[in-house]
Amino acid sequence: MPRPAPRFPSLLLLAAWACAPGGTSDDAPASTPSSLEASVTQTPFGVTPDGESVQLFTLTNTHGMEVRAMSYGGIIVSLEVPDRDGVLDDVVLGYDDLEGYLAETPYFGALIGRYGNRIADARFALDGTDYKLEANDGPNSLHGGLRGFDKHVWNAAPLETPEGVGVVFTRVSPDGEGGYPGDLSVRVVYTLTDEDALVVDYLATTDRPTPVNLTQHSYFNLAGDGSGDILGHRLTLHASRYTPVDETLIPTGELAPVAGTPFDFRTPHAIGERIEADDAQLGFGGGYDHNFVLDREGAVAGDLVLAARVEEPVSGRVMEVRTTEPGIQFYSGNFLDGTLTGKHRHVYGHHAGFCLETQHFPDSPNQPGFPSTLLRPGSEYRSRTVYSFGVMDGGA
Ligand code: GLA
Repeated sequence: MPRPAPRFPSLLLLAAWACAPGGTSDDAPASTPSSLEASVTQTPFGVTPDGESVQLFTLTNTHGMEVRAMSYGGIIVSLEVPDRDGVLDDVVLGYDDLEGYLAETPYFGALIGRYGNRIADARFALDGTDYKLEANDGPNSLHGGLRGFDKHVWNAAPLETPEGVGVVFTRVSPDGEGGYPGDLSVRVVYTLTDEDALVVDYLATTDRPTPVNLTQHSYFNLAGDGSGDILGHRLTLHASRYTPVDETLIPTGELAPVAGTPFDFRTPHAIGERIEADDAQLGFGGGYDHNFVLDREGAVAGDLVLAARVEEPVSGRVMEVRTTEPGIQFYSGNFLDGTLTGKHRHVYGHHAGFCLETQHFPDSPNQPGFPSTLLRPGSEYRSRTVYSFGVMDGGA
């Protein structure tokens, strides 16, 4: 999608993890062919109140595009992407330091599990047994409960693959965590390619049947973190249907056509164009906070399909999202209200960022009509999502 880019001429894995510099890259034009080498470095990023040390990984490709992610919550801390002039800016919301994330966060940049999105009444039945989860969103369980995958320190290590440089996160979620059954072994890999794509691979296995629905909760603002609201971003969603919700944001079970509604993003629309429309569904979400059913005709399980494209007209940045998942939660940052101060003292006002969370549908364990999220021993949960960056006018 993006500019023609050289394949990895020389992938360099820096050996001196501990003494590698942190911080963001400079403003060197990313479009200028450079002698940059793809690299991944590791630096300390603080210590949790439990005394666990947290590591920060900096992935850089040969254009200077840079991803920083930490072992606490697998959180993507920054994502530096070139604009149409090749100028890099950070396009995700978050905090400058670990303390910010520990204090309060609406899942900025985080890995979400065991179950991304909501499970109604914080309960489900499986093989004749009732499981009680942690209610942390009114009566419902959201994003794994009180202490989801986003609030744990993961084992983490740098890696190099033929696709790019990356970081691998692993963790065993113990039987009973958040109320979920079974020891769940999880492996998540972030890979930055030289084609300006961030690839997220999820793998999980279990020793008892359990629902699994993993996702990534980055808040994007393609004009740059802290640059205002995202209402002018132009969004395309390759979804002919969505899952309408009740007032607690639990799906009714219906797969409703988007045609003729403010949820029709099959052709590009500014996010803000219809967000104030007199529509009960928008009212429940305070804007968009809904799962879209991706059009996967012709695709088989495991195929990546184009789910979304977002264009930011001022910077010219474009992001495309491809996924193996059947759904995507489009959340327009409705709960951001100016009370959180993030990176560089940026105040995150209403709609300061948006999320595109690839996923199975919310509340699937209680919705027999939805694709199953059940993982059984002997099977593997595998999921891949690719965020590709480029620029408009033939760029992406
Ligand atoms: C998800 C949910 C939203 C909200 C955010 C975090 O996107 O769907 O309703 O909870 O996480 O604030």
